[in-house]
Amino acid sequence: MKGLILAGGCGRRLRPLTYTGAKQLIPVANKPIIFYGIEALVKAGIDELGIVIGETAKEIHDAVGNGEKWNIRITYIPQQAPLGLAHAIKISKEFLGDEPFIMYLGDNILKEGIEDFVHQFEKNKPNALILLTKVPNPQEFGVAVLDESGAVKQLIEKPKEPPSNLALVGVYLFDPEVFTAIENIKPSWRNELEITDAIQWLLDNRFSVESHMVKGWWKDTGKPDDIIEANLLVLEGIESVNNGRQKDSEINGRVRTEKGAVIERSIVRGPVIIGKNAKIIGSYIGPFSSIGDNTVIENSEIENSVIMEGAQIRNVEKRIDRSIVGKNVVISVTTKSPRTHKFILGDQSYVQIIK
Ligand code: TTP
Repeated sequence: MKGLILAGGCGRRLRPLTYTGAKQLIPVANKPIIFYGIEALVKAGIDELGIVIGETAKEIHDAVGNGEKWNIRITYIPQQAPLGLAHAIKISKEFLGDEPFIMYLGDNILKEGIEDFVHQFEKNKPNALILLTKVPNPQEFGVAVLDESGAVKQLIEKPKEPPSNLALVGVYLFDPEVFTAIENIKPSWRNELEITDAIQWLLDNRFSVESHMVKGWWKDTGKPDDIIEANLLVLEGIESVNNGRQKDSEINGRVRTEKGAVIERSIVRGPVIIGKNAKIIGSYIGPFSSIGDNTVIENSEIENSVIMEGAQIRNVEKRIDRSIVGKNVVISVTTKSPRTHKFILGDQSYVQIIK
């Protein structure tokens, strides 16, 4: 079976981070989000993978490569505009051929992996298999309605008044009938070929659509808070590894430090990951923080946050909490006159200062 990862899209909800980079490459526990999807597919036995790419094609290609990292083959499929998940399948027809395939949204992370899901598909051979999970905010997702026997009855994209709390998780298995379905649907009001409409077409035309409930957590990293939450969920499962150096510091709980990392006169409370050559000096790094490679954290406190590579944070008195700090960002507090704030922020940056 082939795999298809969707890594196009615009990532509007993640601006300003997505002005300068692909959302699928935002690090969660210091690893690009898309790597979690690739690894889940590889673990399920997929060795031929297509990746749909859009405007950020080059940087996805540079980060992921041609599959050597995982010993698989990767083919890149350019999508001229983000015209919908079903459109992404349509343009991948030549790559996918006549075989069943698994589609994975490149900004999703699932704890349990996808092996059970693939086994169910191979055993029952339905035309489509969808993955579902209960969510508190179904109006933000594609939603499924099941009948009394648990069979899928109806799918609705982001319903204003959700008829159920079962959201579609971003992993789907299809056989080639999905191409017929996509030929028969029209773009939605947002001008996208919706995957929910294609699956609804299969249901309406008596093709078999099965569902599978997700057991572990699932995160669609569409918005900034989702990144912080995904980071927390992944860090919950890390092991302690110490490849860095520590001096006069207190390290509690599960902390992973990479090669060249230096922790001096600091307190680190896991779960925390500290990247290569990071310098933590006179600081507190609290639970659920990912500190990227080559960062400098000096006389500052950080908790529940994602600090990306090359960032420098100096002398910030108040604790930085539930924050995302992009690559090479500098945040520093100085005592030099004049006592003014100085900001050089890109469009849609967000700063909150507590007096
Ligand atoms: P979405 O999160 O639905 O869309 P988006 O990335 O454009 O984000 P936003 O709504 O904030 O602007 O996309 C889910 C995944 O599928 C993501 O990895 C991007 C990818 N995708 C494509 O590859 N092609 C597409 O046409 C669309 C809509 C998404």
